[in-house]
Amino acid sequence: MAQFKLADRLEKLPPYLFAEIDRIKAQVAARGVDIISLGIGDPDMPTPDFIIEAMKKALEKPANHAYPSYAGMPAYREAVADWYKMRFGASLDPKTEVVSLIGSKEGIAHFPLAFVNPGDLVLVCTPNYPVYNIATEFAGGVVKFVPLTEGNSFLPDLDAIDEATWVKAKAIFVNYPNNPTAAMADEAFYVKLIKLAKQYNVIVVHDTAYTEIYYNENNRPLSIMSVPGGKDVAIEFHSLSKTYNMTGWRIGMAVGNPDLVHGLGKIKENVDSGVFQAVQEAGIAALREGEPFAAELRAIYKQRRDTVIAALKKAGIRCNVPESTFYIWAHVPEGYTSSAFVTKVLQETGVVVTPGNGFGAPGEGYFRISLTVNDARLEEAVSRIANL
Ligand code: MLT
Repeated sequence: MAQFKLADRLEKLPPYLFAEIDRIKAQVAARGVDIISLGIGDPDMPTPDFIIEAMKKALEKPANHAYPSYAGMPAYREAVADWYKMRFGASLDPKTEVVSLIGSKEGIAHFPLAFVNPGDLVLVCTPNYPVYNIATEFAGGVVKFVPLTEGNSFLPDLDAIDEATWVKAKAIFVNYPNNPTAAMADEAFYVKLIKLAKQYNVIVVHDTAYTEIYYNENNRPLSIMSVPGGKDVAIEFHSLSKTYNMTGWRIGMAVGNPDLVHGLGKIKENVDSGVFQAVQEAGIAALREGEPFAAELRAIYKQRRDTVIAALKKAGIRCNVPESTFYIWAHVPEGYTSSAFVTKVLQETGVVVTPGNGFGAPGEGYFRISLTVNDARLEEAVSRIANL
């Protein structure tokens, strides 16, 4: 058999975080251990019936079986714009300021190819979803990490970024509600970020996959599109995955500055052929009729959150109390690194959690729990950890 060496860009990458966790999980499961997976943020409950029904109807339409349009069906893009208006009060032109995505990961991964030239500097707030820096590097960009620390409520200290860096930077990746720390950003943060982005002509890439998973009606997550000037400088990536239990369906959207949306669309025209129209029609049902379901989902995650917080407290493990996302960002017990702790927990208890340092260096000393199993299993998982 001939042997082929990977391209340098892939060769030098560490294994993809969640693929690596799956690999170790499979090894432990092979020993017959009862695994409780609190690793990847993959909702455990099914896609609701009203979306399944919309999909069934959409499947029966022969017109939906052809190539979809690259940017998304007009009706899907209109549903996205209407949803943004309803949820955030933000106005978007569905024709020029919205593009469909095969899940937001796909859009995030392709975006740097449209705007980052080899050698361009890109700021990535970290700990972070690994795709931000990986995609930047695939495009030949140079990543500068901006640390998110507990002392700063896991917001980037924008004043601490020096002027030379702002001048050089092409883009900055931010993500609120934040994965993995569950931090939220307020309007004042976005106002400051927009001002700096305008001053230095920096693209703001905002990942908002978790805006609908919130627990305080009086403090709902924001879209940068609803902040004055936000649409001038930003592209925002959102997904139907987490809100409607649709991770496997692969559907999301990017919205914002028309040049940025157009650039991403141009890359996509060259590398993919759009989202299956039946999935887009199901997505329309989710966006137009999904709020009661999302409200029920939030109540379930809130209950789970409270269960885990109480159990962690009892076990003496320090953690945040998230007001959004379905993640808990907890401190590893003294004497352990993130990786050592997570490996011990998996090997000895069968509970899968994610090491904080897998999201970047400032994640060292933390581990992430996904609230994506039911209450009883969550209690069982935390009690196994406590008994260690
Ligand atoms: C995570 O666990 O961080 C996310 O679920 C991964 C993803 O959305 O691709």
